[in-house]
Amino acid sequence: MNYTRKQIIAGNWKMYKNQAEAKAFLLKFLPQLHGDRVLWLDEQQRDRVPDIVLCAPFTKLQFLSETLVLSPQNLVLGAQNIHWADEGPFTGEISGQMLNEYNVRYVIVGHSERRLNFCDTDETVCKRLQAAQSHNITPILCVGETKLQREAGLAEEVLTSQLTNSLKGIDLGNLVVAYEPIWAIGTGDTCDAREANRILKHIRTVLQSDRITLLYGGSVKPDNIDELMEQPEIDGVLVGGASLDPDSFARIVNFHLPRP
Ligand code: 13P
Repeated sequence: MNYTRKQIIAGNWKMYKNQAEAKAFLLKFLPQLHGDRVLWLDEQQRDRVPDIVLCAPFTKLQFLSETLVLSPQNLVLGAQNIHWADEGPFTGEISGQMLNEYNVRYVIVGHSERRLNFCDTDETVCKRLQAAQSHNITPILCVGETKLQREAGLAEEVLTSQLTNSLKGIDLGNLVVAYEPIWAIGTGDTCDAREANRILKHIRTVLQSDRITLLYGGSVKPDNIDELMEQPEIDGVLVGGASLDPDSFARIVNFHLPRP
């Protein structure tokens, strides 16, 4: 059966942008959204246009949630982490309840930077996925292999293990998976589009579902977005560095339009 999957173009601002910078970004970015990206949409129309997601630092959620109310409905807010408890003595964490206050629609879970620097494991990732879903927030689960693992021919094995361990008991109906090879993040060394497509096919086989939106992330730029989005398995992208600049992110979200 042929399912139409939701397309998603997400920017991960990581730990960048103060208030003035976020404002300046929107001033330049919003006027560049055009075509089907500025419609006020009913439920069915919304399904057919890509969601554009800004995954901002926590300190920017209130400002962005207030500003995005007046923006196109397919431009939505994302967060970069979620704890599994609703509240409690968890210094430095944030809960689903708190994200709900700002109408956060997506949350990045299991990014390699959190796995490497902040001890996230498949087990904690699984709990964060559950928390997101129980608060009606769509988690973007990140998986990816290191350069050493790739060179050892272990990429597929690593991905299969990350997926099976972190998705225990998770509802596949409200989930996005992003393939982010660690060697391609912030390096300018993008994964070849056909190779990314091949890996996403593998991920789809592991998930045993044709319906889940799959993203590619790792040095996505205005120059490679068209080729990436032409691949049949790539339903969207998760963009780091290039999402910080309003002009490059605008070109990426407008990938289907002719270049100016
Ligand atoms: P870059 O686009 O800067 O490589 O970052 C990718 C990423 O980590 C998105 O989550």
